[in-house]
Amino acid sequence: MNKIEIRKNEHVKIALEENVVAGQNYWDYIKLVHNALPEINKEDVDYSTVFLGKKLGAPIIIAGMTGGYNEARKINENLASAAEKFQLGMGVGSQRSALEKKSLEKTYSVIKKYDIPFRIANIGASQLVEWGYEKSLENANRIIEMIDADAIAICLNFLQEAIQLEGEAHSRGCYEIIKKLADDLDKPVIVKETGAGISGEVARRLAKTNIACIDVGGLGGTSFAAIEHYRAKKRGDELHARGGKTFWDWGIPTPISITETGIATKWRIPIIATGGIRNGLDVAKAIAIGADVAGIARVLLKPAVKSKKAVEEELEAIIKELRAAMFLVGAENIEKLMEAEIELWI
Ligand SMILES: Cc1cc2nc3c(=O)[nH]c(=O)nc-3n(C[C@H](O)[C@H](O)[C@H](O)COP(=O)(O)O)c2cc1C
Repeated sequence: MNKIEIRKNEHVKIALEENVVAGQNYWDYIKLVHNALPEINKEDVDYSTVFLGKKLGAPIIIAGMTGGYNEARKINENLASAAEKFQLGMGVGSQRSALEKKSLEKTYSVIKKYDIPFRIANIGASQLVEWGYEKSLENANRIIEMIDADAIAICLNFLQEAIQLEGEAHSRGCYEIIKKLADDLDKPVIVKETGAGISGEVARRLAKTNIACIDVGGLGGTSFAAIEHYRAKKRGDELHARGGKTFWDWGIPTPISITETGIATKWRIPIIATGGIRNGLDVAKAIAIGADVAGIARVLLKPAVKSKKAVEEELEAIIKELRAAMFLVGAENIEKLMEAEIELWI
């Protein structure tokens, strides 16, 4: 295994074994207002939606997590099988390692075997900066082809890069590259944070480009600073372990990031709500405050390591909860859920 493969493996292992969530889950501060007379039937609730032109069985994206080392193939396959069953969108983790080592392609491309309505390729923004524009365009096309993707996510992972020992915290020129890629690629570009959120100001700048969607990836769920804390601790590196702890709760809470992004972009750019989504009620809250779909990573990781059936069971429970939440606010479809009344409990 090369260095990237070892790192990818460590990320998954740590996310499974340690407590890597932010200090608070901000979805707890949002409540949907109970409708005691919903005047609809629970079985009539329709949670299907159309996202970036593709029909999804529910407003859920399995957020990109892994690929790039041999065991990751099984994880992506188990997730893909459930994505097919429930007709959900699915992303893979950063595909950089497969660009460098062809034999790792199958750890991502395995998802092509499944009839998934919306597949998302993935590459880190710091990588684009290192490559420069021409190489970024070439590699973006290669990773799209690798999984026959419907869109490509550029992941803004500068918190992680800033904290980890081997991090490449180079961001100069990143915006220009994203802007040009959004112009030149045939597939939609999603700009995605990974747990530290998108501010109104950043959203406003992104809205001036041709990107198709913002995944706010906000604070409240998996903390990459926490993951880096444990990685450093395991190798006895006190300095980086300390940095991980200091920045554990760095970022913009997901619900706030959705609101800021929506207002800054006049709600014209579709929003994926990733960061701390634990169940179907959180999915419903995310839609009610303005997201188009919700992204889920961490809670699907444990079942994904186990089996296809385990992922299916978890998603089935999440979708059942979504149905119940929609019934209890009297929303018979996603458009109605978007109008549901919310309360902030601060
Ligand atoms: C083990 C692990 C690996 C991840 N790797 C990537 C990645 O390669 N690219 C990416 O864009 N996001 C990555 N993420 C971030 C997730 O897509 C998501 O934004 C984040 O975990 C917040 O969602 P959650 O709170 O539901 O976990 C990873 C998350 C986990 C848990």
